[in-house]
Amino acid sequence: MAAQRPALDPADDLTHALNVDFDAALEPLFAQRPRSPIVRPSTEADVRALIDDRWPAGDEPLAALTAQITQAFDAYPRRNTHPGFFGWVAPSGLPTDPLAHAMVAAINANVGGYWSSPVGTTIEKTVIRWLAELADFPATAEGVILSGGSISNLCGIATALARAAGPDFRERGMAAFANDARPVVVCSTAAHFSIRRAAILLGLGSDQVVAVETDAEFRLRPDRLEAALEQHARVVCVVASAGTTNTGAIDPLAEIGALCRRHGVWLHVDAALGGGGLMSPELRPRYAGIELADSVVMDLHKWFFQSLAGSLLLYRDAEPARDLFYDSPDYLRSGDDIHTPEQYMFFHIAPELSRRCRGLPFYLAFRFYGFDRLGRNALHNVECAEYLAALIEAEDELELVVAPQLSILCFRYRPAGVDDERIDAINSEIRDRIQLEGDYLMSATQIRGRPVLRVCILNHATRADHVEGLRDSVLRIGRALVDGISR
Ligand SMILES: Cc1ncc(COP(=O)(O)O)c(C=O)c1O
Repeated sequence: MAAQRPALDPADDLTHALNVDFDAALEPLFAQRPRSPIVRPSTEADVRALIDDRWPAGDEPLAALTAQITQAFDAYPRRNTHPGFFGWVAPSGLPTDPLAHAMVAAINANVGGYWSSPVGTTIEKTVIRWLAELADFPATAEGVILSGGSISNLCGIATALARAAGPDFRERGMAAFANDARPVVVCSTAAHFSIRRAAILLGLGSDQVVAVETDAEFRLRPDRLEAALEQHARVVCVVASAGTTNTGAIDPLAEIGALCRRHGVWLHVDAALGGGGLMSPELRPRYAGIELADSVVMDLHKWFFQSLAGSLLLYRDAEPARDLFYDSPDYLRSGDDIHTPEQYMFFHIAPELSRRCRGLPFYLAFRFYGFDRLGRNALHNVECAEYLAALIEAEDELELVVAPQLSILCFRYRPAGVDDERIDAINSEIRDRIQLEGDYLMSATQIRGRPVLRVCILNHATRADHVEGLRDSVLRIGRALVDGISR
């Protein structure tokens, strides 16, 4: 008997228009970007009270839902969009981003490769080529935009490890090194912790990360690197930083590159933080030698000013990455010549398969603003940091602990006659009180074992008055704290 024909009408028409005004939905979010306080302290219970957790019945108007979410973010923010936000490494995003990210969602392309998104792949390859040119990489360089610097560092180091192990690595894993000395990764003591984590995840173990000493400006010392290369038989990767997290130091890339070439060792440059400085012709000379790297990481969501998330992992020659990551499962079988543009697959050189159209927001922003204009903003950030450094040096009660090499500096409130222990406590208190006041935010770190006030300026809206205001707040709070102690 013939099967009965079911109606199979869609349960609902999910394609209907939402009837929300996009600008009206976003306008309150834009309005709250520069608002103080930057942070309002909360308990999780405070926030929970604003986040409705009833089982979703689908019976609420969209405008009410977006309004609730908007209000919650306004009530308990951490606004890296604020021009007085000087913490960690967090730019405010570009005004084109909300539109671009909405386009990404509306298209919803899966950019695993050309076959799944010819346009998304071509756009991403175009962005990669532009960024490769900034780093003076050859036209044959390839790359992939991943979710963040930690993941890009992991994948770059994985490729270096696999290349050093040789063709057996895919089958034998670390056993490919079995009769050899254990593989080692060398970086400086100022390298980002994602390097150590990469070594852990790759099964090397954190003991196999050799962190060599830095100079007085927190840059990797080439003489110490050379000693490490001579001491350890199996260095699989040297990681240099182009912008360290604590101080923005750029390692001497040209000298490091020359040493790596002499020893036949893979050079990976972590420019996750500092890469954006390459957009500025004035700052670019500071990165001389980056073109010697085998792989470079540049986070678009850091000093390229763009919204989360995107991090370029760039390869001078991507064949070792292809040797590591290539696969051709039955359901995604590649054609005979995977090197034709129409067979191009990002998943042949990186671990992700399904990927959103990450290149689109960067493509749109770079074309709309241009590298020159964004580069001027990077230089502006450096000038703001240099002005703050000059203000600090002009004050007897302030100590410039690390001068800016990019747009990061570290300082302390350090009045005469107060012992070091007290100074440590006072500086931590200053940081907390400034955050509570709401107009400025600095993050904590330690330099040579002592707490400092760390300022990282990545916002294009920061001006002289914000920098002066920060100095005034530190002095006012610091003086009040010292008064309190002496009374
Ligand atoms: C130098 C450096 N490398 C890597 C990272 C990690 O980047 P992500 O937070 O995108 O994973 C950071 C983060 O601040 C960084 O400063």
